[in-house]
Amino acid sequence: MHEKVIVLDFGGQYNQLIARRVRECNVYCEVKSFKTPIDEIKEAAPKGIIFTGGPNSVYLDESPRIEKELFDLGIPVLGICYGCQLMAYTLGGKVSAADTREYGKTSTVFEMDCLLFKGLPENGITWMSHTDYVSELPDGFRSTAHTTDCPVAAMECAERKLYGIQYHPEVMHTENGVAMLRNFLYEVCGCAGDWSMSNYAKTAIASVREKVGSGRVLLALSGGVDSSVLAALLAKAIGSQLTCIFVDHGLMRKNEGDEVEQAFKKWDINFVRVNAKDRFLSKLAGVSDPETKRKIIGEEFIRVFEAEAKKIGKVDFLAQGTIYPDVIESGAGDAAVIKSHHNVGGLPDYVDFKDIVEPLRLLFKDEVRQLGTELGLASYLVWRQPFPGPGLAIRIIGDITEEKIQILQDADYIFREEIAEAGLDRDIHQYFAVLTSMRSVGVMGDSRTYDYTLALRGVTTTDFMTADFARIPYDVLERVSNRIVNEVQHINRIVYDITTKPPSTIEWE
Ligand code: XMP
Repeated sequence: MHEKVIVLDFGGQYNQLIARRVRECNVYCEVKSFKTPIDEIKEAAPKGIIFTGGPNSVYLDESPRIEKELFDLGIPVLGICYGCQLMAYTLGGKVSAADTREYGKTSTVFEMDCLLFKGLPENGITWMSHTDYVSELPDGFRSTAHTTDCPVAAMECAERKLYGIQYHPEVMHTENGVAMLRNFLYEVCGCAGDWSMSNYAKTAIASVREKVGSGRVLLALSGGVDSSVLAALLAKAIGSQLTCIFVDHGLMRKNEGDEVEQAFKKWDINFVRVNAKDRFLSKLAGVSDPETKRKIIGEEFIRVFEAEAKKIGKVDFLAQGTIYPDVIESGAGDAAVIKSHHNVGGLPDYVDFKDIVEPLRLLFKDEVRQLGTELGLASYLVWRQPFPGPGLAIRIIGDITEEKIQILQDADYIFREEIAEAGLDRDIHQYFAVLTSMRSVGVMGDSRTYDYTLALRGVTTTDFMTADFARIPYDVLERVSNRIVNEVQHINRIVYDITTKPPSTIEWE
């Protein structure tokens, strides 16, 4: 279908980033464990192979290895960091431990006749992170870049199309790093660059049509990015054969339920919005334990969905918004684990269907967004920040009442408006308000008040596993604070959460 490059994963921290960079260069690539059998690689007939970095030292017995035969297939190989050392070691060169680790931005000199550096400056900054280095080149190789401490910052055997680089071209600290990857893909591998989201949309639509035929497809739409883009794709592919069930638990952000509904009006699909607010709130009444709240919402969600799905009768396919990071087999662990992922946990057990459609399985998150734009999905859905399934229920500390939901929705809305107004909405990866349910004394006009404290949270993160608090400028915080206390009743104090994750989490419950 597409020309393909294989990224062989040796357990380094930037492996998915390498794959994303390759795709940014319009070349499709897949991440595979370094344990992938050589026959499987031959069968895939990739235009090139990239070895990632990894935490090991090649000269230790237990370190990941690769069969030498891989270098004889005539397929171009680029080794990065550990991958470069492994190439040198496997082909008869020598790798040694340096006295000091070379780490961070490093001034590097490149040989201009190496294809990787074609059209780029002779001097530049690279991002290094290594202790081992190639101390003797394998036969037929030459050094094509060096730094003060590292004689082989890059190497090549041009006739065999084998290349190695000690630094990390995929991180943004390496100047022209992506251009070097691009040179590998286009100058060395001879790629044509057939991976684009408009192409992908066309092929995905065609293959959904082929798989589904005249069958009926059911999708649980949460209004999050993945399920919304999936719905848009299916809408284009199969129109009225699609039924989307959108369970509105009444714990969405202000206007959000209507926005989701609005975004899908233009397509000829069966869109079922279940307004289940009363049902959820009555189950949640008086419950203040976070885990119990989550459990109640999860169970109730499934029940509501199930009841709706039963009304539709038999469906043929269940659509799921699984994306590529959920299915990558990592080279990091001993056993290659494939994470199973359901957009809404546990649903398939409750609905009668014969197969699953997962047309986003190959895409990274940023590609899902590009695809959404390509399909004409409303940008407020395409750029939506992550939102937890239990919604505002876990942003109201303690028990939930209709009044508290209203207060939080209004305050959160103002916060979001001001962040967007300040042009910060793409820089801060997640931001929201939390109603603490703590009350304190204030003064408004001439009267004493005793009202809620609202907390604001804003984080920057790459993977949501760790996060830093966002440095929102004081004048923006000041505007948010003024507006909220003036426009929203029952809030008389606002604090900004300045903890990182860990030790905190992003959400408060
Ligand atoms: P924490 O609070 O664990 O959150 O640091 C990490 C990310 O996960 C989101 N989150 C959830 N997403 N269902 C979801 O779909 C949930 O129950 C849930 N809880 C937390 C959170 O918003 C953040 O992006």
